[in-house]
Amino acid sequence: MASIRDVAIIMDGNGRWAQARAHKRMWGHIRGSAVVSNIVEEAVNLKLNSLTLYAFSTENWARPLPEVSILFKLLKKFLIKERNLLIKNNVIFRVAGDISGLPVVAREIIAETENMTAAHTGLKFNLAIGYGGRDEILRACNSFISTNPGQPLTQEDFTSRLYLNDIPEIDLLIRTGGDMRISNFLLWQAAYAELCFTQTPWPKFSQDEFRQIIEEVSGRERRFGQVLSNEEGSLKRSTNV
Ligand code: FPP
Repeated sequence: MASIRDVAIIMDGNGRWAQARAHKRMWGHIRGSAVVSNIVEEAVNLKLNSLTLYAFSTENWARPLPEVSILFKLLKKFLIKERNLLIKNNVIFRVAGDISGLPVVAREIIAETENMTAAHTGLKFNLAIGYGGRDEILRACNSFISTNPGQPLTQEDFTSRLYLNDIPEIDLLIRTGGDMRISNFLLWQAAYAELCFTQTPWPKFSQDEFRQIIEEVSGRERRFGQVLSNEEGSLKRSTNV
């Protein structure tokens, strides 16, 4: 049985869900932010180590300004409203990404919530904001080169420079909304992740579906490029494919 401890989700389908109901795209984001709370709660119940949600990518800056502003307003509202949930459930809240372009108020609320939850010991709840996998990789490489010119970069050196350096691997990557791509999310960390693409748009994604996906994936055999030895029931090294 695969142990699923570190999970990441691409929360997609908000806009299409709203438009299919003759609403503005914003409506999908509003409904989608309520789903974030439910899924964090379920991640706590499932005793996951981490839950990383893709809230705003480096590419999302190219969306129309009103949509970008609404997303940041929702983020602020969400953090203020859900602080008690995070505190009650011993959740550590962190942001992964470059948030220098966010409004000052949003950055302040992020920093306050991070500080308020930093001493907790439960679920690591990470929001990827201003995040891009390629950007993260380049930053880590450049940070190493600037302090160690001419030296070879090891995996340890590299992962220690990622945004969330205590989560070098994720076990499961879920994408809602029906598309089957990873859209520049956790490119390094998802190298051996199990993938799950569901048709359900994010505003309709439920705790039940989340739990079912984790149960289904827990039954998969994960080989990490190795072969399972039938006799010993343990992993034996093989070719790295
Ligand atoms: C993708 O849906 C979703 C986003 C770009 C943002 C995700 C934001 C939320 C779930 C709400 C706010 C978040 C928090 C943490 C409070 P899309 O609009 O690209 O959907 P589409 O593919 O149907 O257009």
